[in-house]
Amino acid sequence: MYYPDELVEEVRMKNDIVDVISGYVRLQKKGANHFGLCPFHNEKSPSFSVSGGKQMYYCFGCGAGGNVFTFIMNYENYSFAEAVKMLADRAGVNLPEMEYSEEVQKKEGHRSRLLEVNKEAAKYYYYLLRSPQGEKGYRYLEGRALGKETMQKFGLGFAGMSGSSLVQYLRSKGYRDELVQEAGLAGFDEKYGMHDKFWNRVMFPIQDINHRVIGFGGRVMGDAKPKYLNSPETMVFDKSRNLYGLNFARTSRKNNVILCEGYMDVIAMHQAGFTQAVASLGTSFTSGQANLLKRYVKEVLLAYDSDGAGVKAALRAIGILKEAGLSGKVIRMEPYKDPDEFVKNLGAEAFQERMDRAENSFFFELRMLEREYDLTDPESKTGFHREIAKKLCGFSEDVERENYVQAVAERYHIGLENLRKLVVSYAAQTGFASPVVRPKSGIAAKKNTPEENRKKSQRLLITWLTEEPSLYPKIAKYITPEDFTEELYRKVADRLFEGLSKGEYQPASIISMFADEEEQREAAALFNTKLTELKTKQEREKALHDIIYTVKKNSYEYYSGRMGAEINAVNQVIAGKKALEELSKTHISLDE
Ligand code: UTP
Ligand code: MN
Repeated sequence: MYYPDELVEEVRMKNDIVDVISGYVRLQKKGANHFGLCPFHNEKSPSFSVSGGKQMYYCFGCGAGGNVFTFIMNYENYSFAEAVKMLADRAGVNLPEMEYSEEVQKKEGHRSRLLEVNKEAAKYYYYLLRSPQGEKGYRYLEGRALGKETMQKFGLGFAGMSGSSLVQYLRSKGYRDELVQEAGLAGFDEKYGMHDKFWNRVMFPIQDINHRVIGFGGRVMGDAKPKYLNSPETMVFDKSRNLYGLNFARTSRKNNVILCEGYMDVIAMHQAGFTQAVASLGTSFTSGQANLLKRYVKEVLLAYDSDGAGVKAALRAIGILKEAGLSGKVIRMEPYKDPDEFVKNLGAEAFQERMDRAENSFFFELRMLEREYDLTDPESKTGFHREIAKKLCGFSEDVERENYVQAVAERYHIGLENLRKLVVSYAAQTGFASPVVRPKSGIAAKKNTPEENRKKSQRLLITWLTEEPSLYPKIAKYITPEDFTEELYRKVADRLFEGLSKGEYQPASIISMFADEEEQREAAALFNTKLTELKTKQEREKALHDIIYTVKKNSYEYYSGRMGAEINAVNQVIAGKKALEELSKTHISLDE
């Protein structure tokens, strides 16, 4: 879905970025910018900056950045068109209704077509469950104590007995087989041709935080294997960054989240009034999911299965929650297997009591550890205490660690001084854990390769130019957009130079040129390179001169190597040589 550029720009200008982001992140003004805790990675001190002047945001910690559209796309998990739509509504801008003509469909992003076919499939399954063909499924779900409203709320459905009824239905709606296959709804083989992936199962549509169907889980109605079949990961279905039930949980207004293992658990919890329940998607809990939860709550209550596998999964999840800076507690499920069975047998009130008495995750870890030792044997007991001390080293903050040392000493009857000594001796070997810093996708620590240096000088120049657009004539005397040898940089420079030459300065509009989030992020980085603080005018003049010189020299070398391969390389080389000669004897003055 494409809106005209001018309209996109109007929407952007009517949504002040500081206003919009303030609705999501607590910002504090510091100098020309606003700062807050980055919502895209875990941090304790604010490195997330929002610039009202540039109408952009940038995180110096993880590199997330862009304009107001990028922010909404990232935060709300929206496509570009959806972000435009939301912000247009916010600012009261009327957007033309888009019709899904064949032509538009062609242009439509692949993502939205996948979402559409998933939605259509969900509708089909939903309809089937409530039709005579779905009676078996309906009775199964009723047998599991789900009411009509609950089934409706979660959009539960049924995949029928025939091998290709969904395929045929989707064909009748005009969807191409390849798309249906790519969405993971059907497979193809010589023997059966195109055939449905799911059949004879009750279907659980999996929705993202905006209620869009991104995949499915399907359960057999008996004991056959596999019990659950899940959609494969697709362009719209990232299992490590979505959670079942989060679309409802995020507006539940509870101050914690209940993390369960299974779809049925989530549904049973919601039915019992615990609308803050979520579950991972047939895979184990990930740090991406922890960071997602962190946007909404500080505390996560684990409601995992009480069996061995559940305990193991819980211990793993605790580590991930801790790393994300979330506090974790464990709900005791015994004598039942999982939350679904628990509420079915003991009801919501009993579950609420268990929640109120949920165990601090560190003590849970210790209790599980304790099972491996024989505390009547002094040697084994010592081993246990050593392990406790090691684990205590995991608290990087002194106050927190000391609080735990005291609590553990009391609980396990260990002499406080002895335990402290033991902790310190382990810390001497391994150190107290410091918070883990994870670079976000693809931005591993940058090395000082010649290419990276070349890019860095180009970034510096663009940032400087956006911070002080009045320098444009001085810079344009030597530098043209062609000197930006990186393709994305050149696109940005093209637009920036064009605007500045006309006296227009809208760096944030340049970001909207890129539909892809990664590109938006990279473009935003261009405008937000950290400039060294230079005090004197003399220092600044020299720095500017050096950057211009470096960019020009890199460009000169770049084009020298491409003569013969690129038509305009010769011109660039000639112009470059001339500019470099001039620059080496010219002083750039910052005076008007
Ligand atoms: P469980 O086996 O605990 O199932 O798997 P459950 O949620 O309690 O379901 P019921 O009550 O037996 O119907 C927990 C989760 O693990 C994934 C699913 O996401 C399931 O909800 N799973 C399990 C699979 O993806 N495939 C399987 O074969 C089994
Ligand atoms: Mn279960």
